[in-house]
Amino acid sequence: MTTTRGLEGVVATTSSISSIVNDVLTYRGYNIDDLAENASFEEVIYLLWNDKLPNKQELDQFSAKLAEDAVIPEEIINQIKSYPSDKVSPMAALRTAVSTLALYDEEADDMSEEANYRKAIRLQAKIPTVVTTFSRIREGKEPISPKKDLSFAANFLFTLNGEMPEEVAVTAINKALVLHADHELNASTFTGRVCVATLSDIYSGVTSAIGALKGPLHGGANERVMKMLSEIGSVENVDSYLHQAFEKKEKIMGFGHRVYKTGDPRAKHLKEMSRKLTELTGETKWYEMSTKMEQIVRDEKGLPPNVDFYSASVYHSLGIDHDLFTPLFAVSRVSGWIAHILEQYSNNRLIRPRAEYVGATNQSYVSVENR
Ligand code: COA
Repeated sequence: MTTTRGLEGVVATTSSISSIVNDVLTYRGYNIDDLAENASFEEVIYLLWNDKLPNKQELDQFSAKLAEDAVIPEEIINQIKSYPSDKVSPMAALRTAVSTLALYDEEADDMSEEANYRKAIRLQAKIPTVVTTFSRIREGKEPISPKKDLSFAANFLFTLNGEMPEEVAVTAINKALVLHADHELNASTFTGRVCVATLSDIYSGVTSAIGALKGPLHGGANERVMKMLSEIGSVENVDSYLHQAFEKKEKIMGFGHRVYKTGDPRAKHLKEMSRKLTELTGETKWYEMSTKMEQIVRDEKGLPPNVDFYSASVYHSLGIDHDLFTPLFAVSRVSGWIAHILEQYSNNRLIRPRAEYVGATNQSYVSVENR
């Protein structure tokens, strides 16, 4: 038996959802650059789940269903009100609330294809509302119901802030959602697939995936990037901060990637958004600090920024609380998780690798009194 730490380079399944080849990311064969410039997030979800872009009628119906299903049960709102919200992270709250949503879905354990697709829409629709409801409740505000005539991106901002969002903010959120939607067999997607490969239900799959996304080596990195930028404070401090971190052999959040070697194709879109949005807010220092960091980390460590690096200053410029950055990643990535979960069900085999045993051998039991 040969072991591969972190399963690096191991091909664990076939998939026709997204691919990373020569540092180019595609969803169902469409280059991410094309989708980021042109597609709505609703179109991308439909593409991921149905293997084709929707026509006008399909898109209208699909978008209407997503908006209709976005309301969350009163029981979930009351449960969120009972969370110790000054102490829990929004990702922990999201993980718990998504698991609880299953208790209020009569089809939760119906494994038919049709029921799974209906649950997929419900999960995709309700997750943003859970995030924004948690955010409002912890600020002592009343939750806001999503509007049926708003786009997915606009509803996220509307239910978060309680006011109609500006077009520039909606466009930025839509693009960020498109860019985060799927990413081949990343850690949270693999977690979701492992879970449902036991033929567990879709809510369990998504709940486990949220748990995996929460970690700082995965989705949790974007929040840490903003923490780091805030600590650095100014362009002048970037150099000394980074050199101290290099000396201490600390990981610089938002840099490096298991699969991309020359660069993450999503980062350039977020970089440009960061430039534009920080100009609009007048806080260009976040962009300037970020570009300086990029230059130094690239030159001295050979590491390019990943998707999380510039998304931090983008979300900050949109006025989003820093600990909501990773939940916002989940709002998008749930579309990819679900596509993979449905693909797993369609051609399932239990995922059960082996471990190479390196522990003690030939031990004999000694009674507790004699140990
Ligand atoms: N800062 C500094 N050094 C880094 C680094 C970073 N962000 N990312 C990788 N490296 C270095 C490691 O220290 C290691 O060096 P070594 O061989 O001298 O020990 C080498 O590059 C390989 O890193 P490793 O952690 O083994 O790679 P991985 O494929 O297991 O991990 C990540 C990939 C993404 C987890 C890793 O790059 C990382 O921790 N990045 C920061 C967190 C982050 O931004 N996550 C979001 C990913 S989208």
